[in-house]
Amino acid sequence: MNESFPPQDLQQEHQRFLEPLGTFARTHSCGELGSGDLGREVRLCGWVQFRRDHGGLIFVDLRDREGLTQVVFIPEVSPAAHAAAHILRAEYVLAVEGYVRSRPEGMANPQMPTGEIEVVARSWKLLNISRTPPFPVEDRADPGENLRMEYRYLDLRRPRMVKNLLLRHKVTQAVRRCLDEAGFLEVETPVLTKSTPEGARDFLVPSRLNPGEFYALPQSPQIFTQLLMVAGLDRYFQVARCFRDEDLRADRQPEFTQVDIEMSFVDENAIMSMAEGLMARVFADVLGREIPRPFPRMSYAQAMADYGLDKPDIRFDLRLMDVSGLVRDSGFRLFASAPLVKALRVPGGESLTRKEIDEFTDFVKIYGAQGLAWIKIRRDPGAAEWQSPIAKFLSPEERARLGGDLGLEPGDIVFFQAGEPGVVNAALGNLRLRLADRLNLIPDSFAFLWVTDFPLLEYSEEEKRFVAAHHPFTSPQGDGLEKNPADTLARAYDLVLNGNEVGGGSLRNHTLRLQEQMFSALGFSREEAEARFGFLLRALELGAPPHGGIAFGLDRLVMLLAEAPSIRDVIAFPKTQKGLCLLAGAPAEVSGSQLRELGLRLREKDKV
Ligand code: AMO
Repeated sequence: MNESFPPQDLQQEHQRFLEPLGTFARTHSCGELGSGDLGREVRLCGWVQFRRDHGGLIFVDLRDREGLTQVVFIPEVSPAAHAAAHILRAEYVLAVEGYVRSRPEGMANPQMPTGEIEVVARSWKLLNISRTPPFPVEDRADPGENLRMEYRYLDLRRPRMVKNLLLRHKVTQAVRRCLDEAGFLEVETPVLTKSTPEGARDFLVPSRLNPGEFYALPQSPQIFTQLLMVAGLDRYFQVARCFRDEDLRADRQPEFTQVDIEMSFVDENAIMSMAEGLMARVFADVLGREIPRPFPRMSYAQAMADYGLDKPDIRFDLRLMDVSGLVRDSGFRLFASAPLVKALRVPGGESLTRKEIDEFTDFVKIYGAQGLAWIKIRRDPGAAEWQSPIAKFLSPEERARLGGDLGLEPGDIVFFQAGEPGVVNAALGNLRLRLADRLNLIPDSFAFLWVTDFPLLEYSEEEKRFVAAHHPFTSPQGDGLEKNPADTLARAYDLVLNGNEVGGGSLRNHTLRLQEQMFSALGFSREEAEARFGFLLRALELGAPPHGGIAFGLDRLVMLLAEAPSIRDVIAFPKTQKGLCLLAGAPAEVSGSQLRELGLRLREKDKV
């Protein structure tokens, strides 16, 4: 920005107005005056949204966190206030004293909460000036992500963003009220700590006092919350900052906030019922909405079979169907030879154009699919009944069986995916969401769902060993872990809201024996387990009560309540997709002396 600042012609005038605040304490916010306040003497403070000069009158829309109020400067009321008002520009900060009156006939603005009135200025003070802002402070401006992040404080002045932060505040307060009333203690756990495995990379912090050694920022407070249960705290919660070095998406940030909860002497039903109560309270307090309880439950296996994803959006009823059996002997080689063939029937999908189907084909490739087979059942009696690039490979009997088993009807389209289960499910599961969006099948509602009975372990091809599907402190179901780790299910549950994972938790291994079994299933030697988690194992030897918990992703929850497109819209100072804070310019290089103090040296090739 190279405009002179303050603007040359106004330097002297600005000086005159930039005086101490004096008695300009506010009587009202800019969002609250209405026709009940006519005649009232008021003082407002805020930012200039807009200035209009209309003949003899000058109008200024004054903005603060609560809204906008129209201020009018009238020469007959105060010649001095009016004469000086011509210097006002967007984002100047001022205090105004005056009285409330009705807007003249026909000038009321029903769109504005304060639209029936205006404040007639008797006097005002300039509290600060502003350069021309890099983008207008209003919801309809679209300055682009980078500019928004660089000038986040301006972005946050916009009503939509204020609304999001207010909503977040209300959610956090409702959570605190509800948990406090239910006897939960809020306790803070360390941020400089040792790695807690939640499946992502750790952020590391070098220790100056212990050269060569590092703290890890917590991926979650997991181990400490368990230690609080061993300490006898019984019911704990924390609005906890968590750090995960992972690839970012619209619903992920490298630092995010969990509402983390742990309880003693409970089973999964008690935790889930507490969580439902908490969600109901948040929705009631914040949105005034009642949500039906208990929430439905679905096993992981069923979620994968019917929806292809472990976080199904159940607001609409399209389901995947396993047709592997039907096409096992098909003349269509692709189907006959695939380990899994699934179909997704979409009633009314006949209206999709060829171009859209091509777009969907590109879309499923993101999930590793090679292509996308489809069949349209035409409504038009003149057209061939089945329209499809693959119909010719299917025998009349196969067609009849598919038609019968899938319940195909005129006007439908059915998509097929054949291949490895992981790809088939991801491709069709995500296509299901995309199609529902395209065909407007998703109602404007909130649908919670518990997903339960997750596998305890997943096999990692990369590491050639089992890894914990949730985290390594989760209890197994049954007692078959040693004999049959691959098929053991976890006492874990995820809470899904409209297809988003908003929470997850589990019962923990509270006996040493169970925890050691788990470490051994994960391929940790006794020494490795001791080195990493010895402090937890010691605690399990000293009278740990049965316990379990759950953590909600606060940012995700607020994003859904705010109907915001990205988690970044509900975090005051988020990171970009590349993990940058464009506002402060982080991460940044540090000086050689800082590195030396920490006992660190960058390799030549790491330097720019
Ligand atoms: P989990 O890893 O499932 O469980 O995390 C809990 C919830 O946190 C949210 N979440 C995130 N939100 C934004 N950005 C991220 N990078 C991110 N990662 C996770 C999700 C998720 O459901 N210690 C266990 C909880 C427990 O077992 O009690 C844990 O952290 O909404």
